[in-house]
Amino acid sequence: MSPAENTAFITGGTGGVGRAVVARFLADGYRVAVPYRSESEWKALASAHEDAGRSGALRGMVADVTDESSVARAAAEAASTLGGIRVLAHIAGGYKGGVDVERMEARDVRGMIDLNLLSAFWAAKHVIPHAKRTGSGRLLFVSSRGAVEFSAGAAAYAASKAGLHGLVGTLARELRKDGVTANAILPSVIDTEANRVSMPKARFDDWVRPEQVAALLAFLASDAASAVSGALIPIYGRA
Ligand SMILES: NC(=O)c1ccc[n+]([C@@H]2O[C@H](COP(=O)([O-])OP(=O)(O)OC[C@H]3O[C@@H](n4cnc5c(N)ncnc54)[C@H](OP(=O)(O)O)[C@@H]3O)[C@@H](O)[C@H]2O)c1
Repeated sequence: MSPAENTAFITGGTGGVGRAVVARFLADGYRVAVPYRSESEWKALASAHEDAGRSGALRGMVADVTDESSVARAAAEAASTLGGIRVLAHIAGGYKGGVDVERMEARDVRGMIDLNLLSAFWAAKHVIPHAKRTGSGRLLFVSSRGAVEFSAGAAAYAASKAGLHGLVGTLARELRKDGVTANAILPSVIDTEANRVSMPKARFDDWVRPEQVAALLAFLASDAASAVSGALIPIYGRA
């Protein structure tokens, strides 16, 4: 096994979904690097995986995913401490909505595009050289059901996530001779603490669980998925 074989760069690894993905990849034997921006969120993640921290299987580095130079530094540090990067799981992202297009300000649109779309370009750009070196790289992105089924007041979010689909399809073409695949998953509402708090009356059982999202990403990262590239995969639970 090459040193880079089981290595993953997981953006948003401290978040509601990211924590489950980090746990799954560590359980699958990966060495994982998490670029984070909040020290307290990183400490909470690290304390849930103390053994992995001690063995060097879990590393963290401060980064702002919307800033290219910050992402470049984080990816370089991750590759040097882990011994390479085979898998990118780009989970960092977020939702801000509730404003109709007629009343939208430039900062509303730019905020969503920077966080959900530009960040994905920078993560891909700076992981690709490492992923190519492994001959079995995986570029995984988290889009949303909201990118293909629209709601009023969510145009900036929908457009920013739909933009990912163009990125993924293009990456699949550009990298098909390099053994590197690119795929996006489209979750419906995920059963995170934050969603339970903001939608207390919803039927939580209908929501997709973070562990199910993690399992799909783990599959896409595996050898079994080597022929899957350019896919946009819905993961809606019962919603
Ligand atoms: N939750 C859902 O129902 C749902 C549904 C469909 C798609 N998604 C997508 O799934 C992904 C994860 O969602 P989630 O529910 O886990 O969200 P979350 O709990 O808010 O986690 C987002 C993660 O991204 C990080 N992040 C945000 N901005 C960043 C920045 N500028 N630089 C570095 N890191 C940054 C956050 O770090 P901090 O801790 O510092 O904020 C956090 O670790 C997102 O892309 C989201 O759009 C979520």
